[in-house]
Amino acid sequence: MFPANTYQERRAALAGKFDNGLLLFVGNEDSPMNCADNIYRFRQDSSFLYYFGLDQPHLAALIDIDEQKTILFGDELTIDHVVWMGPQPALSDQAAKVGISETRPYAELGKYLEKARSSSRAVHFTPPYRGADILKLREWLGTTDLEPSDQLVKAIVEQRLVKSPEEIRQMEIALAITRQMHITAIKESRPGIKEAQLAGQVEGIALATEGQLAYPAILTVNGQTLHNHHHGNVLQSGQLVLGDFGTEAPHTHYASDITRTWPVDKTFTSQQKEIYQIVLDAEMAVIEALKPGVRFLDMHLLAAKIITEGLQKLGLMKGDADAAVEAGAYALFFPHGLGHAIGLDVHDMEDLGENHVGYAGELERSTQFGLKSLRFARAVQPGHVLTVEPGLYFIPELIEQWQKEQRHADYINYDKLQPYLNFSGVRIEDNVLITEDGHRVLGPAIPKTIEEVEALR
Ligand code: GLY
Ligand code: MN
Ligand code: MN
Repeated sequence: MFPANTYQERRAALAGKFDNGLLLFVGNEDSPMNCADNIYRFRQDSSFLYYFGLDQPHLAALIDIDEQKTILFGDELTIDHVVWMGPQPALSDQAAKVGISETRPYAELGKYLEKARSSSRAVHFTPPYRGADILKLREWLGTTDLEPSDQLVKAIVEQRLVKSPEEIRQMEIALAITRQMHITAIKESRPGIKEAQLAGQVEGIALATEGQLAYPAILTVNGQTLHNHHHGNVLQSGQLVLGDFGTEAPHTHYASDITRTWPVDKTFTSQQKEIYQIVLDAEMAVIEALKPGVRFLDMHLLAAKIITEGLQKLGLMKGDADAAVEAGAYALFFPHGLGHAIGLDVHDMEDLGENHVGYAGELERSTQFGLKSLRFARAVQPGHVLTVEPGLYFIPELIEQWQKEQRHADYINYDKLQPYLNFSGVRIEDNVLITEDGHRVLGPAIPKTIEEVEALR
């Protein structure tokens, strides 16, 4: 948790964007896995964490703009709770830690909102993403027609997108742990070991720091399947392993999101080296070009061009590179976006709406295959933290379909792809802060050149 004044300043900055009304923040509840008392590990709502810092279930808060006060709603624990959960600090003590002096029982929130509605005061809230919250909001607001507040969403997005030095410190704490997780997975890989054994080691490192994974780990010999959470394969000589995993900073929950790709054997094959180097060239060129004012859309297209030119050198693509990028032909091999904002969430604030975060009314989102998956396109600004994560994949099913259709046949040499159908994929991902005069790759360096990766093997 940060000092109380951090939360007070964040709330004051947000409240300053509103002339009247109520800003409602609903903290998360425990969520059942299979019955009410057998729960998933608790994860607080990120906007609640950002403005109110308290990391436990069954809290809500109101910023009353007209009355110029902030109220924390929650329940004091009864002796029954204490028997099962041990003694807990009083609600007022918790509130004081984040600079709030007024607390009320949770059940009073509904009454407070009812009174506000009866005098036609606006209640601003963010889009609920858990069923339990939808039900609560319906009850509190007396309607099934919930209308989240665009004004609140936009204000939160613009504030949370710009990270303060204390937030960056937390992200770098997470990245130092994530570096250890990647180095362990790279070193421990060998023919005969199961993906699940590596995944267990990686997650164990995160848990041992009192943190937790920022998202379910991707650790697979089938990197061509983009969100592959299956860990049932045994590593075999000749394969690549793609590891996309990162921890949250212990206690504060700031995310890290790193991908590395490495060979099961001690060295890359020459085919693997050629593909790997194209992805690395794209990743480093984008990072080098990042500075305030640059549109992330243009960075995606820069990566696409480097990938296209690299594949042309290998004879897998052909024709004019710019035209191939504009047509979207590269997306056969690079079907996802270049990256996304990261912060308290791995895909930062996407619960508030992906386009609010990444397009912000500045740009129209493309419908083209590949580019439509770009989550962040707008101009970057100092304090933004973005992932840069180009990849190059050979997805047999997609190749087969496009080849049948002869899609983009002017740009793709389908007859040269046969030797790559079992290749899988390569992705390299780092987390980059935009600074006043350029950028900084966050965290301690994690091996990524071919020589550095092979040295770990
Ligand atoms: N780890 C998911 C992503 O890179 O977006
Ligand atoms: Mn990732
Ligand atoms: Mn990512």
